[in-house]
Amino acid sequence: MIKHLLSGADLDAETATLILDTAAEMATLAGREVKKLPTLRGRTVVNLFYEDSTRTRISFEAAAKRLSADVINFSAKGSSVSKGESLKDTALTLQAMGADAVVIRHPASGAPHRLANWIDGSVVNAGDGTHEHPTQALLDAYTMRSRLGRLAGLHVAVVGDVLHSRVARSNVLLLSTLGAKVTLVGPPTLIPVDIATALAPGVQVSYDLDAVLPTADVVMMLRVQRERMADSYFPSAREYARRYGLDAPRMRRLAEHAIVMHPGPMNRGMEIAAEVADSPRSTIVEQVANGVSVRMAVLYLLLGGRGAGAAQ
Ligand code: ASP
Ligand code: CP
Repeated sequence: MIKHLLSGADLDAETATLILDTAAEMATLAGREVKKLPTLRGRTVVNLFYEDSTRTRISFEAAAKRLSADVINFSAKGSSVSKGESLKDTALTLQAMGADAVVIRHPASGAPHRLANWIDGSVVNAGDGTHEHPTQALLDAYTMRSRLGRLAGLHVAVVGDVLHSRVARSNVLLLSTLGAKVTLVGPPTLIPVDIATALAPGVQVSYDLDAVLPTADVVMMLRVQRERMADSYFPSAREYARRYGLDAPRMRRLAEHAIVMHPGPMNRGMEIAAEVADSPRSTIVEQVANGVSVRMAVLYLLLGGRGAGAAQ
């Protein structure tokens, strides 16, 4: 098993499948009266968040607690980071407190990789800048597999602000490893020219959403990340929604079995219409629930668990 989870590229097909299978075992806990396992008793998991988060932060906390780990939640706001303390000194402080795993979200791409050089414990990337968000890709793959029964051979359209999306990058890497076919769709200004070839062989690019929808098994809508946009990448929100937003008429172009995903948070009315987000095709709420099981599996396996029988 790998020590750190920094990138979708850290996972070969065997390791990724082990994580998904272990997550499926963890999910059986959700139906039990007592949702807790003793597996990580005495181990310490630190959640180190330098950037805002709702789903990822809460689900890592829930995951660690369900495995009986001690959890320390650190958010940069309100910490000595505001006094100028560096990431390295913060890391060494956490190390001195005996962190067995550090889950880090940071606005700088590459921060989790730096952290992994400074501490002895495992590091999990919970989103670094515009770079990667590997546990999101794992929970997305888990959701596709549980809704559609397989990953190999699926056609996944990843739509929207690819340029700023760590979710897109990690998904392309993981889905390609697991045999799915990915098409990146969006305006040319939001799809970096070399992204398809740089990330994985066989990734397609299209600027025409309507042309891609009929052959997609999965449509993954990405949030337009205005907080990362210094320039103007499209004429107006209305124009963006008209060309690349998933609304009800567009959803009707999808195959009957196709699902609609979004990592959240959503800009309702922009990349996704409310009636699509709330439709039975949407897996958005399921993705959040699956995130807890997947993060339990990741923490369990990184900290030395062995897979089969994880939830006994
Ligand atoms: N929540 C995801 C992330 O942190 C996606 C997004 O913010 O749009 O990358
Ligand atoms: N999907 C996701 O990472 O959500 P948060 O930014 O709320 O953690």
